[in-house]
Amino acid sequence: MEKLIVKNLNHHYGFTSILENINFELNKGQVLSIVGPSGGGKTTLMHLCADLIDVQEGNIKNSFTSSSFAFQESRLLPWKNVIDNIALGLKAQKISTKMAQVRAKKIALRFGLEEIDFDKFPKDLSGGMRQRVSFARALVTKPSLLFLDEPFSALDIGLKKELQSLLIEMIDKKELSVLFITHDLMEAIRLSDEILLLKADPGRIVKKFKYDLPQSKRDDKFVYSQSAKILQDEEIIDTFELELK
Ligand SMILES: Nc1ncnc2c1ncn2[C@@H]1O[C@H](COP(=O)(O)OP(=O)(O)O)[C@@H](O)[C@H]1O
Ligand SMILES: [Mg+2]
Repeated sequence: MEKLIVKNLNHHYGFTSILENINFELNKGQVLSIVGPSGGGKTTLMHLCADLIDVQEGNIKNSFTSSSFAFQESRLLPWKNVIDNIALGLKAQKISTKMAQVRAKKIALRFGLEEIDFDKFPKDLSGGMRQRVSFARALVTKPSLLFLDEPFSALDIGLKKELQSLLIEMIDKKELSVLFITHDLMEAIRLSDEILLLKADPGRIVKKFKYDLPQSKRDDKFVYSQSAKILQDEEIIDTFELELK
């Protein structure tokens, strides 16, 4: 069984403790969200899980067979066009250039890009289109684990919903496991099987929530009512430094 296991994880930058005693498991087919305020150590935690930085203390075991990323900024290669940017991940898999182009075009269309955009370079794309490309690039390889670090934060509400729906389609088919990082509680409630609430200074998990209702059946009403329920909790008000008057 593919799994990500994080045990007794601590992390420091200099003398500052960033993460303290983090423990969780992400199973195949699951969406696990880490929700917390900005500066709480979420990106650091994701980079540790993705093996982009070294573990200092504790343990991370990742037995997923493949993984990919999408970030808040799209991080496209400026000298490659839309299709070549998307096809990038497939090159590493030794798929023929022709086949890679076919698959890149197919997923580009699925993510709402049009044929007239295929030859464009990132500088000629809107922020929303760049984020479509970034998502397509992350998913074209059919990763078994997807790391998402605030991928919707810079998007307008329409595009956010559209990309979330595409993701929910894949989650529903159990094609994908996701480690999802966000400061947006409602977004997490819409997408997650489990939410871990991370409090800052140092980053530590203070609450866990589980949701059984399939993501495709969660409507706005569900998301609002669950948020309202969670936001009554003192610990959560404190974590987000919410001012409720
Ligand atoms: N490479 C680094 N060196 C030193 N401090 C860092 C580094 N990366 C992040 N930090 C600090 O660690 C804390 C957590 O950052 P980050 O993981 O990016 O939080 P989040 O993603 O929740 O906003 C912040 O105070 C940040 O300034
Ligand atoms: Mg971050």
